[in-house]
Amino acid sequence: MLVGVDYYPEHWPEERWPVDARLMREAGIGVARMAEFAWCRLEPREERFSFAWLDRALDVLDAQGVKAVLGTPTATPPAWLHERYPSIYPADPRGYRLGFGTRLQRCLNHPHMREHSRRITRAMAEHFADHPAVIGWQTDNEFEANLCYCPVCADAFRDWLRARYGTLDALNAAWGSVFWSQEYSGWSQIPLPWEARCGQSHNPSLWLDYRRFASESTVAFQREQVRILRAAAPRQWVTHNFMGLHESMDYYALAADLDFVSWDNYPGGDWQQEWARPDLAHDAMRGLKRRGFWVMEEQCGITGWERMARRPRPGQVRAWAWQAVGHGAEAVVFFRWRSCLFGTEQYWHGVLNHDGEPRRRYREVARFAAEAAALSEALEGSVVRARAAVLNSYEQNWAYQIQPQADGLEWWRQARRYHAALRARGLDVDVVPIEADLSAYRVVAAPGWYIVTPEDAARLEAYVLGGGTLLLSPRTGVKDAANLCRPEPLPALLREVAGVEVDDYDALGAATERLRLDDGRELDVTVWADALRLLDAEAAGHWASGAFEGEPALTRRRHGAGTVWYVGTFGGPDLYAALLDRVLPEAGLPAEPGVPDGVDVSRRVKDGVTYLFLVNMTGEERRAPVPTGAEALLGPAPAEGYAALPGREVGVYRCAG
Ligand code: GAL
Repeated sequence: MLVGVDYYPEHWPEERWPVDARLMREAGIGVARMAEFAWCRLEPREERFSFAWLDRALDVLDAQGVKAVLGTPTATPPAWLHERYPSIYPADPRGYRLGFGTRLQRCLNHPHMREHSRRITRAMAEHFADHPAVIGWQTDNEFEANLCYCPVCADAFRDWLRARYGTLDALNAAWGSVFWSQEYSGWSQIPLPWEARCGQSHNPSLWLDYRRFASESTVAFQREQVRILRAAAPRQWVTHNFMGLHESMDYYALAADLDFVSWDNYPGGDWQQEWARPDLAHDAMRGLKRRGFWVMEEQCGITGWERMARRPRPGQVRAWAWQAVGHGAEAVVFFRWRSCLFGTEQYWHGVLNHDGEPRRRYREVARFAAEAAALSEALEGSVVRARAAVLNSYEQNWAYQIQPQADGLEWWRQARRYHAALRARGLDVDVVPIEADLSAYRVVAAPGWYIVTPEDAARLEAYVLGGGTLLLSPRTGVKDAANLCRPEPLPALLREVAGVEVDDYDALGAATERLRLDDGRELDVTVWADALRLLDAEAAGHWASGAFEGEPALTRRRHGAGTVWYVGTFGGPDLYAALLDRVLPEAGLPAEPGVPDGVDVSRRVKDGVTYLFLVNMTGEERRAPVPTGAEALLGPAPAEGYAALPGREVGVYRCAG
């Protein structure tokens, strides 16, 4: 396991580099990610490359045993490139170009941007391919979909549509362009959609295709760099730093060209804040390639550009780092080594303060690094092996962004309800695309699976017939791949599989209704209400209020060797707890003893040994169950089946089986 830092030698006098390298070694830092914003120093004039300074920095680090990951610097093209080709600035829907002075100020489809990206990538790859310190590459930095409105993109989008549909007749039919007299008789008539055009909304099918195109543009841009890196530097691997629950692009497609996924983890503040819980993001990032990942930027202190957030509590950085490892991280790289004296990110604090002195953040990182080194051999090659999964899809996410329908249907909010409920039972959970091999999972939740293709329906049915338990929720099957509403009763292509049809529905949003479970308990539910008609399923809950009072709201159907649940609404933890009380034993998943609130439980397995990670994310002591016979590798020894973890304490236990 590697521990690292993001290091910018170009920000510091060369005399300081040996001090930094020594302090890194003393803290147990083994790798530095570098150069991803240094284009103006790497190519100060067009085709005048300057790599000697980076060679020297690499040598200084290497002398202390610190290896390097180099970033291609294409997130910040230099001023000379923009001066020469102002048309590479991306355009907003009004044609306005942001200009110079921040970052990401480039259209990834622009031929000049592409050409210069290839050139700097090739020059760097050829130069550093055999440098003993360089172990791998990071493409660009935190890619997003290329949601650009420049003339190059307009043309490229139309070409993309032509390739997808062949003829305008096919496109008009697929999009339902007859609505509002939008049938196209020439490709050049097709606009790029945008949100606020005269307060009117564009065709959802046009939107979805534009989102696909913008995402594929970024994937194609990265692919050019990956090909060059692989050809010129075959000894080194290639990754990219993803952004967790970021939504603008298809991360599965972006990950497909890489050796492994990395991501940037900034949980921010306290556990109590929903967004500060990175467990879902870790699982989603592990799921991009269904293997271990790196954290390429891990928060290590106060964050902030112009304003500052609260300081992570003592021990919180170490807890976040161990949480990452428990969820499958093979390296944790802290952002950044030293707080910068200049530029936009002066208040985004590093391991060292502005003064460069090792202080308490340094000591906390060094402690984590020493612990990680001690467990490295044991954990090497261990993997998370989940038996429950939540399905994820970027296209579905975009379709909800295009037509949100009701508050609460946002993609990751839907996923988080199921993910949190399964994790609260102490289960490891994979977040995977529908194309993954689902047969390894006893339970699969497909919350809000809105666009259902015939292939999706077949996959899900095969999973159930083979013995799996599938959890469905409202808005399943509403759309086809072109983002048109399907004509069948909902859940349309999954109606027979689920054994129910939706007779009526209500977009509750923030309103609540009452649901009565068949054991008599009543719960508040929200966001959406489906009135279900049983075809070949049994009701497990009914509406106890509102327009659908007395009608089924929750159903279960045995199908082949498996089971399908249709949960026609959304609820709080009590709803999912009640659901899982029935689902998990039936699905053959062990009823784990209660996981205390605020303790992150995860496991990695290797050679018949399970490594159990317990991370107390709260500030108070928590008692968490530990299997009999488990041995503490880190943290408090278990007593009578429990580990007593002080606030923000970590326990790692070696368990048999
Ligand atoms: C990340 C980004 C870094 C740095 C950091 C702090 O998202 O990759 O380059 O900007 O945020 O703002």
